[in-house]
Amino acid sequence: MFKTTTSKLFLKNFSVIVFLLSAFSLAVYLMVTHNVENADRQKLQSLSDILMGPIDDPNEAEEIKNELIPDVMQSHGFLGDNPDKIALQWFDPKGQLLATKGTASITIPFDAAAKFQREKTSGLLLLTSPAVRDGVLIGYLRVGMKVCQSEKYKRGLITSLLIGITISLAASSFIVLFLVRQTLKPVEESIQKLTDFTADASHELKNPIMAIKSNGAVALQYSNGMRETDRTKFLAIIDAAEQINVTMTDLLSLAESEHELLNDALTFLKIVDLLDDLNADLKELSIAKSVELKWIITDGNLVIKGREEDIKLAIGNVIKNAIQYSNPGQEVVITCRNIGNKIVFEITDHGIGISEEDQPKVFDRFWRSNKARTHTSGGNGLGLAIVQSIVKRYKGTISIRSKLGEGTTFTISIPERR
Ligand SMILES: Nc1ncnc2c1ncn2[C@@H]1O[C@H](COP(=O)(O)OP(=O)(O)OP(=O)(O)O)[C@@H](O)[C@H]1O
Ligand SMILES: [Mg+2]
Repeated sequence: MFKTTTSKLFLKNFSVIVFLLSAFSLAVYLMVTHNVENADRQKLQSLSDILMGPIDDPNEAEEIKNELIPDVMQSHGFLGDNPDKIALQWFDPKGQLLATKGTASITIPFDAAAKFQREKTSGLLLLTSPAVRDGVLIGYLRVGMKVCQSEKYKRGLITSLLIGITISLAASSFIVLFLVRQTLKPVEESIQKLTDFTADASHELKNPIMAIKSNGAVALQYSNGMRETDRTKFLAIIDAAEQINVTMTDLLSLAESEHELLNDALTFLKIVDLLDDLNADLKELSIAKSVELKWIITDGNLVIKGREEDIKLAIGNVIKNAIQYSNPGQEVVITCRNIGNKIVFEITDHGIGISEEDQPKVFDRFWRSNKARTHTSGGNGLGLAIVQSIVKRYKGTISIRSKLGEGTTFTISIPERR
């Protein structure tokens, strides 16, 4: 009964968890990568500062390249382990390259104002620093350092986060589903109790109502000497009892249609036979209203799997409405065809029609567009509520096309069950 609500609640809760987990993971990723990047930059900055210290003569490029820089790097343990991971470039104040050291190649053009740059292909992080001695710019030192470790670390972090998110989502999907079911259980039980109560009450009330009706009928049978006003009163009692009886029957049908459909109760029903029976059942009403019923069945061998009483009640209620809300002399057309894996019934009348505003309301319980008129004609506004409930039970759909004053078409589509 609550399958759709369960799925909707599950999806809503699950989406919130997906959103929170993604936001949390993104925040962790951005924070950690920012810290790693900062650490790399600090390392590069301190290497640059150390190298910059002994340089004081910009014209001795060869000396800088061959002795100074290697010495500094060796003494600080930078070049010893990884000559291919470090690259140095010494530029004159005009940006002319004077010397390079280290085997890692730098391809990005010199930019005095760049400070930190990243060489995507080789994974080098570059730092360009001006060398100033006694207030005079004597050149630029560009230091490049491979940060493969950091890249590896970032990739590892992404993998761990993805694995973490997947495991958390899988676990939370079970937990959310369990919690949603637990939450809905009492509501489902209450509604079930209410439905059962409606069915029981309708059942229990049927007998006294029938007793009132039959006693009234008996009284009228022996009405010799009865005053005319009393006769009218008895007729009104019988009429009211009949109206209550119809409402009780409809409430019982509605309660029944809300139960889950049991596969054992279903049989293959030949549609031609079903519609033949309906034609016979509705003959009296259609003659009384002077409305002609026209049946179009595209395939005489069409079958539908279901309970005969359900299909007859659903289609019959819609045809009854089409007759009731038609004008004398009009025609009601009932077509049945097989579209894809669905059996589609279409009931068209050219009667009073339903305004666009009222169309969504027609399936509400006890709703009638003109209460006074329909009450006298015996309608209680439960017919289409029952139809909708049965159609839902068969996992089908029902839709309306209508224009006020021009007529209405109801389309009921029920999936075939093979
Ligand atoms: N084919 C139709 N054309 C115009 N109005 C319709 C049509 N079918 C339904 N309606 C409107 O929708 C209302 C609800 O229909 P529904 O069948 O649920 O109740 P009802 O016909 O009034 O009573 P009953 O319970 O006897 O069927 C009707 O009262 C009527 O106003
Ligand atoms: Mg009706």
